[in-house]
Amino acid sequence: MPAQTLIKIENVSKTYTTSKEDIVALQTVNLEIKEAEFVSLVGPSGCGKSTLLMLISGLYPATTGVITIKGEPVTKPYTNLGIVFQRDMLLDWRNVLDNVLLQIEIRRLNRADYEPHARELLERVGLGNFTDRYPRELSGGMRQRVSICRALLHEPPLLLMDEPFGALDAITRDQMNLDLERIWEQSRKTVIFVTHSVPEAIFLSDRILVMSPRPGRIVANIEINLPRPRTLDIRDLPEFSDYNRQIRKIFREQGILIDELGKDKEGLGQSPSSEVDY
Ligand SMILES: Nc1ncnc2c1ncn2[C@@H]1O[C@H](COP(=O)(O)OP(=O)(O)OP(=O)(O)O)[C@@H](O)[C@H]1O
Ligand SMILES: [Mg+2]
Repeated sequence: MPAQTLIKIENVSKTYTTSKEDIVALQTVNLEIKEAEFVSLVGPSGCGKSTLLMLISGLYPATTGVITIKGEPVTKPYTNLGIVFQRDMLLDWRNVLDNVLLQIEIRRLNRADYEPHARELLERVGLGNFTDRYPRELSGGMRQRVSICRALLHEPPLLLMDEPFGALDAITRDQMNLDLERIWEQSRKTVIFVTHSVPEAIFLSDRILVMSPRPGRIVANIEINLPRPRTLDIRDLPEFSDYNRQIRKIFREQGILIDELGKDKEGLGQSPSSEVDY
């Protein structure tokens, strides 16, 4: 059976109105995301990646256009999803298990019904012995694992992840990539994953959407045809390098990466190489 469309984004734009100016963050975004698809968004800082996630989650309204999830227009915060941010957002005064169960309390569901599943999720990410620890006793990678468990606890069909591993060291990040790929293999949720790391996006995704500098538009849609389950060794395959090269070329065409010194184009201001990672 062909995969069903889960999210449809039609002619969506977003302008933020501030006291100083209007900022067009997104311009005419059109996009479809299928059920159980793992899609990454890559693009330079400020191109509207987080904005797009906020619009999909219904936390911010779109200025024009329509977003539908399962055919229903998103007009208020959509609750049947999990969100993981760059900062883990754990509550310092709650232990690991209570942090994972937070959503259940907010949703006024019965804690006892969800506790076994919370423990099982923590077990799956190697934190089975840490349920009564506090966030301050955990490393950055462990904290982010707790956040992922929290986002998955109510079994949402959709997971939005905004640079969840951006603050982690390289080795922990590799491990988190592997863990997430495994979790995704087992649960087949729809994931929309924002990252500045092109290899991370290639490693994890079925499809990568490349965004232009602000106002953000989708300028490329690249299917990643690498076998699953994936191991870190796929990064040594020639196909992996080909995808990397293909995306780097798009960045160059968009003025996001500039090879020659002194050719900084208008508006970039900061060092372009600091914006994306290989
Ligand atoms: N609440 C807001 N009010 C006003 N402007 C905003 C707001 N949120 C974002 N913006 C602006 O909209 C543009 C897009 O921001 P957004 O955070 O979506 O970018 P991003 O691609 O996620 O960037 P980064 O990679 O740095 O996280 C930026 O110019 C930003 O300054
Ligand atoms: Mg962002």
